[in-house]
Amino acid sequence: MKILGIESSCDECSAAIIEDDKILSHVIASQIPVHAKYGGVVPELASRAHIIDIVEVLRGAFAQAGVTSQDIDGVAVTQGPGLIGSLLVGIEAAKAFAYARDIPLVGVHHTEGHLLAPLLDTTEGMQKPRFPFMGLVVSGGHTNLIAVHGVGQYEMIGQTLDDAAGEALDKVGKMLGLPYPGGVAIDRLAVGGNPERFHFPRALPQHDNFDFSFSGLKTSVMTQLRRLQAMPQGQDLADLCASALEAVVDSLVRKTLRAAHAAHASTIVVAGGVSANKRLRQRLAEDCRAEGLQLSIPPMKLCTDNAAMIAGLGKFKLASLLAQHAHFEAFNLQPKPAWNLIEAISV
Ligand code: KG4
Ligand code: ZN
Repeated sequence: MKILGIESSCDECSAAIIEDDKILSHVIASQIPVHAKYGGVVPELASRAHIIDIVEVLRGAFAQAGVTSQDIDGVAVTQGPGLIGSLLVGIEAAKAFAYARDIPLVGVHHTEGHLLAPLLDTTEGMQKPRFPFMGLVVSGGHTNLIAVHGVGQYEMIGQTLDDAAGEALDKVGKMLGLPYPGGVAIDRLAVGGNPERFHFPRALPQHDNFDFSFSGLKTSVMTQLRRLQAMPQGQDLADLCASALEAVVDSLVRKTLRAAHAAHASTIVVAGGVSANKRLRQRLAEDCRAEGLQLSIPPMKLCTDNAAMIAGLGKFKLASLLAQHAHFEAFNLQPKPAWNLIEAISV
């Protein structure tokens, strides 16, 4: 069964075609240059860029896979959560395709896509995680700890009470005058910095608390900047980046490992843009090894927002809907900008 996946929930316009667990093609048009000068994603510009990109991205996915529209058996699209204007572009493209070909269309949950991305085949020979696993989804929009007992069987263990981890790093980056996205710049600069020079708070440290809070980090960095009096440069800047990053990484790693033990999960899966972070990867690898846990981080292209994970999840959803002889009505699919994962699976 060949499935076309479409993802347009935020600032990546992506299409992919999969066959079973194999990715036949995968195209992503990033909008980083569109939003860079504003220091964050501008929703209206994001939806306009999706409108410009979507047809070319779809064409690219077909060309790369070497298949035609006639070969596709079903379509999966991100239905939410995300920016409403951005979601609409992908959903309308998916509806048009499914309607024209008269094939089933399914709307899927973006975070669920991230969680199941490691079940796709990758060229890097990564071992597929076994259930139950503890998923950490950590990006500009999400910071969630989710116990995955099986496909469609999730338990929300913890989430951020304010900023997502990537959002906090992006805001700190902006305060330090770094280019957008700040998380990427902080990752680069932190390599030469001393993570112990400044102490930034680790929120909600209680052993049985699996929620996160990163908004206090901005205030602490701001206080530190006032103390330094001038805009930090050179070693001061590197030390600030390393120390701020350490506070984020420390919270993420400690809570994820604790949550894995609490849920009797022997594997940790990490997805979302922040999983590209060098220090996070290093700490996770060291601590998982020390505590006898297996670590599964998909290749970068499957960690950030992408349509392959949407097609991968769509495969499961379509199979179960087809088994129930569900009626597919492509025109009824509406975006769900604030869709909650646990709600999504309990309907
Ligand atoms: O998953 P993603 O591409 O989009 C969503 O937010 O859904 O993640 C983007 C986020 C941004 O906040 C960006 O700063 C962060 O991931 N990010 C990083 C790194 N690469 C991307 N943060 C820290 N270190 C990185 N290397
Ligand atoms: Zn995402």
